[in-house]
Amino acid sequence: MDILFATNNPHKAEEAAKLLGPAFHILLPSSLGLEGDIPETHDTIAENSAEKALFIWKKFGRICFSDDTGLEIDALGGAPGVYSARYAGESKNPADNRRKVLGQLDGVPFEKRTARFRCAVTLVEPVTEGQSGFKTTVFEGTCEGHIALAESEGVQGFGYDSIFIPNGMECTMAEVSLEVKNELSHRGKAMRELAKYLSAKK
Ligand code: IMP
Repeated sequence: MDILFATNNPHKAEEAAKLLGPAFHILLPSSLGLEGDIPETHDTIAENSAEKALFIWKKFGRICFSDDTGLEIDALGGAPGVYSARYAGESKNPADNRRKVLGQLDGVPFEKRTARFRCAVTLVEPVTEGQSGFKTTVFEGTCEGHIALAESEGVQGFGYDSIFIPNGMECTMAEVSLEVKNELSHRGKAMRELAKYLSAKK
């Protein structure tokens, strides 16, 4: 089954492909000729997730899903949260974002560096009954952990992975394989629910 993923992020696409398995073939908007950013203009992860999926649904009119993720750091009052992508500026540079977080947490001891990734996946699918012609369903996942005292040298993953230590692990998410990350990550949890939902419909 072909399913469109409302993202330009190849790392998210790789993780999602593994999580959905071979029964699903993920297409990206870029492969269908859509260039440029997918809008995310709201103040909550749930709303941005819905906005991204509905934007792609309106463009292509076929089954699609989105993923919006934020990193919440307790010592920063929940920041960067929904603003995780552009935390250090509009260039959305991941290294700058990580540096900003580590700078703001300078002097904060490990036990007070609690944080979590929060992810909302929105599925939009066509329906034949009813007026609107489509249905949205949301799947959520979180992953609790700590912000590391310094960036790790791990090169797996992306974004904030090299400064995030999931609970129960001794290293950052950038130091484990895709399979291990998917087992415990926010995205893994949300996407497994999506996979279960889609498989039940087949
Ligand atoms: P968005 O969901 O694409 O808006 O991502 C928000 C921000 O969180 C971006 O800076 C991403 O790089 C980062 N991010 C999203 N998912 C992950 C993840 O699984 N690990 C680490 N960083 C992530």
